[in-house]
Amino acid sequence: MAVPVIELSDVSRRYDGGPPALDGVSLTVHAGESVAVLGPSGSGKSTLLNLVAGLDRPSSGTVTVDSTRVDQLGEAGAARYRRARIGMVFQFFNLLDDLTVADNVMVPAQVAGMGRAAAARRAAELLGALGVARHADAYPGRLSGGERQRVAVARALMNRPPLLLADEPTGALDTGSGEEVRKLLNDLHADGQTIVLVTHDLVLAQTCATRTIQLVDGKIASDTGAAQ
Ligand SMILES: Nc1ncnc2c1ncn2[C@@H]1O[C@H](COP(=O)(O)OP(=O)(O)OP(=O)(O)O)[C@@H](O)[C@H]1O
Ligand SMILES: [Mg+2]
Repeated sequence: MAVPVIELSDVSRRYDGGPPALDGVSLTVHAGESVAVLGPSGSGKSTLLNLVAGLDRPSSGTVTVDSTRVDQLGEAGAARYRRARIGMVFQFFNLLDDLTVADNVMVPAQVAGMGRAAAARRAAELLGALGVARHADAYPGRLSGGERQRVAVARALMNRPPLLLADEPTGALDTGSGEEVRKLLNDLHADGQTIVLVTHDLVLAQTCATRTIQLVDGKIASDTGAAQ
């Protein structure tokens, strides 16, 4: 039977003085699914991802990931949770410019207490698998957008997270680099990685996702996996 990785139950997120950013969202994502969240600007996509990542708290409802009640975690607990369970990829890479590519990829392992030698081995393995090994000792500023995003994906996978979250991973990339990142996400999904990605990129959604959720005004307007 499919194992639920993410369970949102009647989740709302309200900010003062506006309509709710999320409004009564219930959703289950199972292990191995690759889910694309689509929707207009302001529809609540990043809010949804941030709640799953424990970067934000719902105003009401429950967020459960891998049996952890993420909505009940304090700051330190949320940081530990992210370190152990979540890999995150952002639109603008968020790499540290003063560290080499290899050192960037090793940051999550070092925060988690892995020894430097073991972290270096894992970083080399990931950079090789993602086709950017030759840039290991370069600084991110020297890399193309697609290469930088592959490094960001390597960093996200460093601690072998059961869940990979991506917010507009091709949003800042040209066509060629976008294609590299699509292929990479597709390969990860084929290897069984559970992925939730937020995107305006319909090609990305169609090629990498087995399920598509449309958000409109903070509500789920359609979900191709709802019947599962
Ligand atoms: N910190 C905040 N304070 C107040 N309102 C916020 C805050 N963060 C988000 N919102 C509001 O919540 C709504 C949803 O925002 P969200 O960032 O989730 O949208 P999105 O779907 O990711 O949009 P985009 O495609 O532009 O990234 C928006 O109306 C936004 O203005
Ligand atoms: Mg957003």
